[in-house]
Amino acid sequence: MCGIVGYIGTRSAPEFLLEGLTRLEYRGYDSAGVAVQHNGEIGIRKKVGRVEELGKLLASKPVRGSVGIGHTRWATHGGISDVNSHPHVGGNGEVVLVHNGVIENYAKLKEQLQALGYVFRTATDSEVIAHLIAHHLEEQIKLGEDPESQETCLKAIELSLKKLKGTYGLGIIFRDVADTIFAVRLGSPLVIGVGKGEHFLASDASPLAGYTDEVVYLSDNETAVLRADHMEISHRDGGRLKPSVQTINQVTVDLDLGRFEHYMLKEIFEQPESIENCLRGRIDEDSATAKFGGLNIEPQDLRLVDRIVLTACGTSWHAGLVGEYLIEEFARIPVEVEYASELRYRNPPLSDRTMVFAITQSGETADTLAAMRECKRKGHKSLAICNVVGSTIAREADGGIYLHAGPEIGVASTKAFTSQCTALVMLALYLGRMRHLSYHAGKRIIAQLREMPDMVRRTLQCHDAVKEVANKYQGFDNFLYLGRLYNFPAALEGALKLKEISYIHAEGYPAAEMKHGPIALVDEETPSVFIIPRGSIYPKVMSNLEEIKARRGPVIAIACEGDHRIADLADDVIYVPEVDDFLQPIVTSVPLQLLAYHIALKRGCNVDRPRNLAKSVTVE
Ligand code: M6R
Repeated sequence: MCGIVGYIGTRSAPEFLLEGLTRLEYRGYDSAGVAVQHNGEIGIRKKVGRVEELGKLLASKPVRGSVGIGHTRWATHGGISDVNSHPHVGGNGEVVLVHNGVIENYAKLKEQLQALGYVFRTATDSEVIAHLIAHHLEEQIKLGEDPESQETCLKAIELSLKKLKGTYGLGIIFRDVADTIFAVRLGSPLVIGVGKGEHFLASDASPLAGYTDEVVYLSDNETAVLRADHMEISHRDGGRLKPSVQTINQVTVDLDLGRFEHYMLKEIFEQPESIENCLRGRIDEDSATAKFGGLNIEPQDLRLVDRIVLTACGTSWHAGLVGEYLIEEFARIPVEVEYASELRYRNPPLSDRTMVFAITQSGETADTLAAMRECKRKGHKSLAICNVVGSTIAREADGGIYLHAGPEIGVASTKAFTSQCTALVMLALYLGRMRHLSYHAGKRIIAQLREMPDMVRRTLQCHDAVKEVANKYQGFDNFLYLGRLYNFPAALEGALKLKEISYIHAEGYPAAEMKHGPIALVDEETPSVFIIPRGSIYPKVMSNLEEIKARRGPVIAIACEGDHRIADLADDVIYVPEVDDFLQPIVTSVPLQLLAYHIALKRGCNVDRPRNLAKSVTVE
């Protein structure tokens, strides 16, 4: 996590840095800071809290200059405090840097540096890098190297990197080397924006919007030296690289809340459009199948695939579970859904005919990236279902499907989930149609898929009903979320939404599984959210609901419009339109997102910036 920005050119660096950090705040919002170089000095300002707080500090204690680096933090090592905020200073101020990542061997390095006399001011792992570079710089100077030369600094950086274990994206400036920013990447993303007489540095392309659409993505083990009108990139193994400048057409970021109070609510209401965008151009009516431009795999090769592994984290993992049900039902290919954090170390047997799909909104989740790389290393075709264009996972995958959901800024994922489910329906249809699924079955699926934007639009009409339910249940401290088949992942997702933004304990379970343990939790104080739309096993879920009622557990039902029977049994009902089983999670997740949103709001929680979380989890 953590967001990095940098600027070198003729503009006011603090202005760009502040704006860039605001756009990167989704990566962490524990604290923020900038360092700006001017006339041989580096001015540092850093502050606990959101970038807004840093803005206030800069207004009262400005720094001026046109070279600078900035950082927005998600704390890993060391508490949330002004002093632990980045930038960090090495030696006696000759090196200043910002870091995204984790240094695993920092404790040992710290001890060694302390023994050499380096004084640590913070409890972070990042400060170790700053002192280490300062130490190697000093050594180079002792050897007679010029302290003001770029080469000396590069050498000090290179020697330091050799000692680091872990991940890093670094922006570094040196007090005595004017007008130069060094950027290094291993495991944490960095993109360089190329302007006219200026360069930008950022963790992703969003801060570049409005400044440039020419970018260079740094790869692992690459170091960039940036000056206003010059850029050099070298690889750790030695040798200069020719920067590969790409033009991206998606450097736009919509920070406008419009009529909404929060990004989360805005994004929930964007779902009819985001689903529509995901579907656009991907339906092949003539062949009753789906079509994808970027899978980069021949149909005859896909036909040979006999096992699929879907790997992801959090909400994307829940979408993966929906994908498992879909692909097994439509294409009859066995699917496993693996937590990426487990898959990366678990080393399960994967045959030559196994295909791996990473599912991710951001395309930067460290565990998902590592799991995908591990599978690629073993020679498996690795594809991605991803939202952020140009993200690391999107670039490293052999092919994939973009969600086209637009920027998701709220930390709680909403529209990405429904778009992931939509993409997975199309994928299952595509794989199914090259196997057992008939033309007519394909046509039926397509007809229903095409209705989804309208179905979700209609579902959003439950908003007022959800608000009332939220009002009634806001005071409860434990919730169960129960659903079966396609609504089991929806139950997990509903529970995750409530946990992450309202800090209420919530568990998702397959509805019938609760009698094997969790039912012991049921009493008047533990509401159960039952996802019970009409469908293939409606009567079975109804029995489960009765079991809860018999134990006096309050029940909130998510049920189909026109289901009057449910109203007699459940304490509260939120109605959604009726769709086929396989499309239900797209519809039923919407009231669950709204319920979490309104309960969190009523409890006074920061919906878009929940505590302890960040939008992109770029550490393992
Ligand atoms: O960007 P990704 O989809 O890879 O992110 C995975 C999870 O970190 C993410 O879904 C997280 O669980 C969300 N905060 C859930 O709302």
